[in-house]
This record gives sequence, C-alpha cells and structure tokens, in this order.
Amino acid sequence: MCAHVLTSVAWPYANGPRHIGHVSGFGVPSDVFSRFMRMSGHDVLMVSGTDEHGTPISVQAEKEGMTTRQLADKYNRVIVDDLHGLGLSYDLFTRTTTQNHYRVTQDVFRGLFDNGYAIAKPTKGAISPSTGRTLPDRYIEGTCPLCGDDGARGDQCDNCGNQLDPVDLKNPRSRINGETPEFVETEHFFLDLPALADSLGSWLSQRTDWRPNVLKFSQNLIEDLRPRAITRDLDWGVPIPLDGWRDQPMKRLYVWFDAVIGYLSASVEWARRSGDPDAWRKWWCDPEALSYYFMGKDNIVFHSVIWPSMLLGVNGEGNRGGGPEVFGQRLNLPTEVVSSEYLTMSGSKFSTSRGTVIYVTDFLKDFGPDALRYFIAVAGPENNDTDFTWEEFVRRTNNELANEWGNLVNRSISMAHKNNGGVPELGEVHAVDAQLLETSKAGFSTVGDLLRRNKFKNAVSEAMRIAGAANRYLSETEPWKLKEDPARRDTVLHTALQVVSDVNTMMTPFLPHASQKVFEALGGEGVWAAQPEVREVSEEGNSDYPVITGDYTDQQAVWESRPIKAGQPLAKPSPLFAKLDDKLGETGPEWAPIQV
Ligand code: MF3
Ligand code: ZN
Repeated sequence: MCAHVLTSVAWPYANGPRHIGHVSGFGVPSDVFSRFMRMSGHDVLMVSGTDEHGTPISVQAEKEGMTTRQLADKYNRVIVDDLHGLGLSYDLFTRTTTQNHYRVTQDVFRGLFDNGYAIAKPTKGAISPSTGRTLPDRYIEGTCPLCGDDGARGDQCDNCGNQLDPVDLKNPRSRINGETPEFVETEHFFLDLPALADSLGSWLSQRTDWRPNVLKFSQNLIEDLRPRAITRDLDWGVPIPLDGWRDQPMKRLYVWFDAVIGYLSASVEWARRSGDPDAWRKWWCDPEALSYYFMGKDNIVFHSVIWPSMLLGVNGEGNRGGGPEVFGQRLNLPTEVVSSEYLTMSGSKFSTSRGTVIYVTDFLKDFGPDALRYFIAVAGPENNDTDFTWEEFVRRTNNELANEWGNLVNRSISMAHKNNGGVPELGEVHAVDAQLLETSKAGFSTVGDLLRRNKFKNAVSEAMRIAGAANRYLSETEPWKLKEDPARRDTVLHTALQVVSDVNTMMTPFLPHASQKVFEALGGEGVWAAQPEVREVSEEGNSDYPVITGDYTDQQAVWESRPIKAGQPLAKPSPLFAKLDDKLGETGPEWAPIQV
C-alpha cells in the first residue's frame, strides 16, 4: 500500500555552521526514515530549510558586523553544504526569507485572523533601560513562574519545557548586561490557544501511538493554555498582513510562528518547482497522508502543541468555529512527532561558546558521511542524552563498519571474484546455508518494523547482527579450504553473497554512499541509492539561493531481497571503510583535540 508520507525536518537557524550535535537530532534520523519509506514504495516529500528570522539571526549578525540579510545568506549556504555533504535526501531544503514563505506565512496568519483565533491586544514589552531598545525574549532570564527554575528564558523554560512570556518571569534580568528590563505598553497579536484547547485535547487523546513521554508532556501543557503572542517588536521578520500593521517597521510575526509554517511553505514551493503547483495537497489535504516531524527535544512543544493549534485554527476547528477558506481545504495535523535528546561532548550540551565543537564539515572531510551517519544511528541520542567520544567513534568504526560489515563484503566478493569471476552457482543447500538465508530474509520485516517506528538504534543493530551471523557462517564453512569441493564452495559463496546483498539493502538508509559501492561491486549498474544535489534557484523579487533537492524516484533500492544471479560478473571490491588509528580515540583530531 503506497501512502503519501511527509517528512518534516526541523529548520536550523542560519546563524552558524552545523555541528554534529545538530545533525544527530533532526538530520540523520529523518533521512534514514525517508530513505526507508521510499524504498518501501511510499511517496515521500521531505522538506526543511534554514530558519532565518528573529533574534538568533540578528544577534549573530551584530557580532559578525553584517546585516541580518547578509548573515542569513552566508549561513544558508554553509548549512546547505553541510547537509548536502551528509547525503540528506531532501526533496526541498529551502529558507524562510523567500517570497513564497512570506506569502504562505501571511496566508496562515490571515486564516487564523479571519476565523477569530488571532486577536490583537495591549500587552507589556520589555525594553533595556540603558539603550531604550526592545529586549528580545530569549535575552531575558529569570525564575520560572511554573517550576521555580532560576535559569528560565523569557520565551521558554528549558527545565519544565513550558512556554513563557517575559512578563511572567520572576526576577527578570537582561542576559546581556544583567539590568532589570523595563516593561512598556505595546500591542501584539495573540494566538487564542484557550479557544483551541478543546479540539487540541481531543486530538491529542487520540495520539495513542505517540511516545508516552511526548504525549504526557503535551497533555500537561494544555491544562494551562493561555493566549500566546505571535508578533514581536522587531524589524526582522515577516510583516503582519493587515492594514495599519503591515507598514509598521517594528512589528513582525514571531520567528517561531513563521518557522513552523515552513513545512507547509516548503511543500508549496516544492510543488511549484515540480511544475504542478497543487501537488503539495497530496501530503497536506489527503486524510490518508502521513506526516512525521523530526526535531530535538527542546522543540517538542512547537510541534505537538503550537503548530497543531495553528492548523486547527486555520481549519476553523476550534471553539470559535470558522472554516478552511484560506487554503480551500482542511490541512492535516502531524501523525507523529519524533524527538531526540541531546548529543553531548564530555557531558556538556554542544555549544559553540564552550569550544568543544565538532563541525560537520570538518568531520566529513576526514571520515566521510557514512561513518558519521552510522555513528549517529547506532550510538546517537535517540532515547537519552548521549556523550560523543572519539574513542567510541573509533571503536565502532573499526569493529562494526570495517571489521564486521566491510570485512564481510570484502571477503565474500573477493573470494567469488577470484574463484569464479562472478556470482557462483547455488548447488545443494545444507541446513547451515538455509538457516542463514532465512535469518537474512527475516531481517526485512524485523528491521523494517523498527524503522517504521523510528527505532533507529535497534534497526541498525539488527542489520549488523545479520552481518555478524554471515561472518560466523564463513568462519564455520571455511570456503577458502574447499578447493577440493568447488560445488560446495560455490554454494557457500553464493549464500554469503546473497546475504551481502540483503544486508546491503537493509543498510541503504543508513549508509547510502557505501551501499551504492557494494551494489556496484556485486555487479549492479546505475543508481542504487539516489543522492541529493544542490541547485541554484531564483524567485521573483529575490536574489538567487541554493536549495537541496533530488530525484529519488528512479533509484533501484527497494526494501526486499533481490535474488543474486549466478554468472553475474563481480567487480574486485576496494575496502568499504578505512580503519582508523586507535590513537585518534585518545587524542581526537587536530581540529577538535580532546581537552584534558
Ligand atoms: N530554528 C529552530 C532551532 O534551531 C528550529 C525550528 S524548527 C521549525 O531550534 F521548523 F519549527 F521551525
Ligand atoms: Zn519551568
């Protein structure tokens, strides 16, 4: 059964290059999932882009002595290169400063406004008494009114996960200079969450397949939903599309309001670029379509509460009624919110300021994309905060990728290449052969079920376990000692090659680059696993920008066992994964030395 599957991947801020902590949370898991779903015959639309508004951008721009636009342009390109280098197979990775995104964001705002869920009210805004300028929420710190934690920010408390307003904080102080902010009268639009709480609650109560902690967390939040400001006193963001507001230089939609809309606007942009401007509706309006949202745990609330509320409001499904007029049809709410924990290094959350940063670009130069993808899948922060260590990276690369998987591929193909020049005949099948073939076939359903449920660690370990079984099989059957019994040797090698082919298929979502090589070593031709490409695109009223896109429909990889054919010529394989020097585990590389 083919379904339309939307893979929505969190939008990285365009305020710096990506480090491996960033891509372990949203990047690699979402790509493994999308590749698997495509191989299973689904029509996947994978979208994301750089998040380019708000204070994260303006603060960094100030630091680098650039305009916000220049900074966004700079890091949009850097991030596109980072993610492309990892082989993340976006259908469209775009950005939030496009005309298209502005239009869709304003449409969503209009939909909410027309249905009565976006209301203007007077409120208090924080300004810095020393400069007279507005003080952005995240630059105000204080005590959380809900849990009492003293490190809460004006927009959110990381301790209890609640959304906050700066006025709510006890003991508010500026994180820039410690002064107490002054609160002055201003006016803002608010998302009327209380009017959406009932429908949100009943929708959440049907999410029984969500991870219990995500569900509980979200349900707790809706017990105390208050209207949330969706505009800010700022000059960098999407203008408010209403007379009297549109031209005010210091009123903009809040960055989080426009960012989550990116999933929809990127789908719309993708459709337009594909030549069928309405194609996005297959992923957003077909009630059978599925949508998976991937993010780090600090972003859960925006995806499990705020974005669904916005969608309910646009659909006209809250207590104030209304209808889905702006988009003409009802928009789907998320099927699943897939969150990850943090990748830490030596116990601290990856942070540029602490100097313990491992940038994706440096990592790729030395170790290539698949070693990082594998490490993140097998040892990443899927369920817990997880410490990255060079020692573990070296150990897993050497023991698992090189000695287990690489070695199986290499010795099976080399022996068959040397003895037969191609895939040997399968003769009389012994119990050991049958058993291994059975184990391997069964992998498609076990590994597949795990991937469908976003259990990446278990999935990749299970595939690796099959490779291990095949290595043990070769040690037991010792085909290198079967010179006198070529028929038996052929059967053993045929069996091993079939398993190499099967495991390679199962590894494809994790190791798309290596899987292409194995496919070719097995005599395959053409594209096995398609890779994304960077394309320069243009848009009226805007400068050209790079996007990540790709054509993934013609790839040959399918999630099933492909019978290998006796006689098929084999290529002499080159080692799949280079072994790393153990010293690297002790010192780290020059560009990210282990600090003692
Ligand atoms: N830019 C945000 C962050 O890095 C994530 C935005 S995800 C969004 O934390 F898609 F919702 F925008
Ligand atoms: Zn709190």
